Amino acid sequence: PQPPRETLTGKSLIAGVFGWPVTHSRSPRLHGYWLKHYGIDGAYIPFSTHPAQFETALRALPALGFRGANVTLPHKEKALACIDQATERARRIGAVNTVMVQEDGTLLGDNTDGFGFLEHLQASAANWRAGDGPAVVLGAGGASRAIVVALLDAGVPEIRLVNRTTRRAEEIAEALNTAADRRITVHDWDHRAAILDGGALLVNTTQLGLAGQPALEIDLAQLPVSAVVDDIVYVPMETSLLAAARKRGNAVVDGLGMLLHQARPGFAAWFKVEPDVTPALRDFVLADI
Ligand code: ATR
Repeated sequence: PQPPRETLTGKSLIAGVFGWPVTHSRSPRLHGYWLKHYGIDGAYIPFSTHPAQFETALRALPALGFRGANVTLPHKEKALACIDQATERARRIGAVNTVMVQEDGTLLGDNTDGFGFLEHLQASAANWRAGDGPAVVLGAGGASRAIVVALLDAGVPEIRLVNRTTRRAEEIAEALNTAADRRITVHDWDHRAAILDGGALLVNTTQLGLAGQPALEIDLAQLPVSAVVDDIVYVPMETSLLAAARKRGNAVVDGLGMLLHQARPGFAAWFKVEPDVTPALRDFVLADI
């Protein structure tokens, strides 16, 4: 007889997430939903791992028989240095959020944040095409860099990058522009309204608008009404940026989908099922926010 599904056995597929603190991570709820939904004999475990212990903990995955793990704040950059092999996009992003234990026991690191962003954008703004025109990206943290890489790979003609601390935007441009491909241009934070002119996509990757943070102040007048406005903040779901964009007729994309879609490649690799992002999953994750 089969054991009850909730019982783990030696055959169960195990993955997890490393964070510090890990209590903020939505990933256990998300992967837990999929495990149950697809009836998989497996588990996804949150690990509260201090930065000083992170490398030891990550390197222990093969010895523990884990299939792999997600990596969240503050370990994503460190993870790139601790793994055996990285995908090209992880190297360009400079951070790892998904680790797979390979058959020979080595660790492969990937970064699926930009993938998740683009998948959700394409799913929610069906009319948006990368070739439509310039993208304006606000912010220059880790999320920004993942999104810039994804937009470059998707083929956007220009990325106008703007950040309060201009130097951080310049660092992203220097890392990702090449002699032959200089599509990233850097602009002053004070010019953020003017550079919306002719844009086909506006993305907020800053923390502005997040609950407890100041609102993002930006005059959208120069932005074409045909442009898509995407805010990766999802607490609250309808930020003041999205509300203002919606009011003037722009298509809007909320931030929750990026979180859901970035989880798909890891789940598929560890648990051998391609999971779907559905309204029921969104509601389930949202119920805890
Ligand atoms: P993550 O890795 O989550 O993308 P991060 O590295 O913490 O984030 O970066 C947060 C982003 O929000 C940065 O672009 C930051 O701007 P700075 O690089 O100038 O710090 C931006 N940000 C946070 N608070 C801000 C504020 N009050 N005004 C403007 N930008 C802000």
